[in-house]
Amino acid sequence: MSAPRLLEPLVLRGVTLPNRLVVAPMCQYSARDGLVGDYHLVHLGRFALGGFGLVLVEATGVTAEGRISHGDVGLWSDEHIPGLARVAAFLREHGSVPGIQLAHAGAKASSRRPWEGGGPVTTGDAVPGEEPWPTVAPSAVPAAPGYPTPHALTAAELGGVRDAFVAAARRAWTAGFDVIELHAAHGYLLHEFLSPLTNRRYDGYGGSREARMRFPLEVAEAVRAVWPEDKPLFVRVSSVDGSRDGLTVEDTVAFARALKAAGVDAVHTSGGGLGNGWQHPIGYGYQVPFAARVRLEADVATVAVGLIVDARQAEAVLAAGQADLVALAREAQDDPNFALHAARELTGGSFDTYPVQAGPRLASRGELLARLGPWAGPDPVQVEQPA
Ligand SMILES: Cc1cc2nc3c(=O)[nH]c(=O)nc-3n(C[C@H](O)[C@H](O)[C@H](O)COP(=O)(O)O)c2cc1C
Repeated sequence: MSAPRLLEPLVLRGVTLPNRLVVAPMCQYSARDGLVGDYHLVHLGRFALGGFGLVLVEATGVTAEGRISHGDVGLWSDEHIPGLARVAAFLREHGSVPGIQLAHAGAKASSRRPWEGGGPVTTGDAVPGEEPWPTVAPSAVPAAPGYPTPHALTAAELGGVRDAFVAAARRAWTAGFDVIELHAAHGYLLHEFLSPLTNRRYDGYGGSREARMRFPLEVAEAVRAVWPEDKPLFVRVSSVDGSRDGLTVEDTVAFARALKAAGVDAVHTSGGGLGNGWQHPIGYGYQVPFAARVRLEADVATVAVGLIVDARQAEAVLAAGQADLVALAREAQDDPNFALHAARELTGGSFDTYPVQAGPRLASRGELLARLGPWAGPDPVQVEQPA
């Protein structure tokens, strides 16, 4: 049996990912004033214990106004650094590369948490202390029916947003992250610049494909300029808009080429977030063809994502040369030990590796038992559970 590609390390600049499995960023809407807490440490930490090579912290607001909701994680102030540093250190200590997604929600900011019904926060129904705030976007186009009309950023204001990404990148470095992913997908600010559905500008930042790409590229270049030379930079894109009258894969290939020229190391090929629903096929691995196309035509490393739920499926994506990394969101939530399970399944080995505290990340079961010593308590089978 040849060695599984899923378990091969990947060297990107000076960073070695121990395997090809990535936890995709997942908003938890559980931060207070942008600060992470124990919840985030446990939520993310279990993926490191479960063997994932790269764990990406959820969309993290580079400004307070750039949050999707009041519960988003933030990096717009130095106060946000210590909590995230604790998360990054834990991930690293337990064998994962710590990464973070930097984001600005644009016209989709000031939304309610999903379990509060989603949609825009309105003054009438706001939880006390969680009032709506004015939103910004490339053009005065509401995120969806019912959303307020955002303020169209002036050319001068764009500099401020770019600088906020740069400042957040510096803070991510201070916090100890090894990978930054810029969020240019899912209908948020950078995607709103890229898409003809939401960009109605004629000032050099809109109109042609090149002009729509200009601001996201300026952000990528500015972040690359401060992000250490030995650390990789990823960009997440919506490879296509939800509806067929928006961004196309050809647009995304052109953007990926420009990103590569700007020093971006990998393109994370997601999809959707703008337009009327999702008018493309959906099913297992439905976005893998985007990763394959971008990898082939833009000659850049790609991260495939979208209903990848099985070790053999993930292995097949890599073996076919469709992507360099495979990311999971919902399946990772469902099985935080997915990477350990995949290793067992693909190598045909027994599941005799366990993460242990303050030791080599994967000690053998024998080592673990030796450390614990002989069982000295009552026979576990006979212990009665409390009612
Ligand atoms: C709970 C949840 C939160 C998410 N939050 C983010 C996010 O912060 N940033 C992002 O780019 N995508 C986010 N996504 C999208 C996922 O990263 C992923 O692209 C999508 O769920 C498809 O992958 P899957 O089929 O493995 O779940 C989120 C998805 C879920 C389920």
